[in-house]
Amino acid sequence: MTGLERLMVCGWQHGEAYFWAVAHHLPIDMTLPRALRLQQLVQPLQALMEGERSGWANLANAAAAAFSATGWHWVGFYVVDQAEDNLVLGPFQGPVACTRLFHGKGVCAAAWEHNQTQVVPNVHNFPGHVACSSASLSEVVLPVCNAAGEVVAVWDIDSAEADDFSAADVEALEALTAVVSKMWDAWTWAR
Ligand code: SME
Repeated sequence: MTGLERLMVCGWQHGEAYFWAVAHHLPIDMTLPRALRLQQLVQPLQALMEGERSGWANLANAAAAAFSATGWHWVGFYVVDQAEDNLVLGPFQGPVACTRLFHGKGVCAAAWEHNQTQVVPNVHNFPGHVACSSASLSEVVLPVCNAAGEVVAVWDIDSAEADDFSAADVEALEALTAVVSKMWDAWTWAR
């Protein structure tokens, strides 16, 4: 496998059939070490996002790209719900997950509250860890910030292996998260 393949999308509008060939090919050399595969995604993912203003669509592709490049158990976003003052499940790849996360409980809430990446080698040792899946053994959560520096979402990644996130993995994930943060304010959320 050399990358994410061409995606064909088809649909109907005003009674006319129309097709888009979305030729965004995100090259992933699966022979490279995992952290380098993630680093390889930074520029193509940014280019892909520059062509789309929907935040939902961009978060979905970011999750899919990192999931496809790594095979981690769960890769996705929780978005800050300002009205409810909690985190709500956003686009993700992997098993069904908890829909809301609350202050003071779990790894995602810690990343949100402290605006700091949380690397958890063993989730059973993290007080208050929220176990959406019993298969998750280690976890990393990165804050996504708007231009004002406020945490607007978190990028959560779970592994079924203990102690599965190297410093190089985290560095690459921070580079990917920086792309999401940089573009956040330009995105819309209505659809
Ligand atoms: N483990 C997270 C909850 C989200 S799931 O892992 C998808 C936490 O403790 O916040």
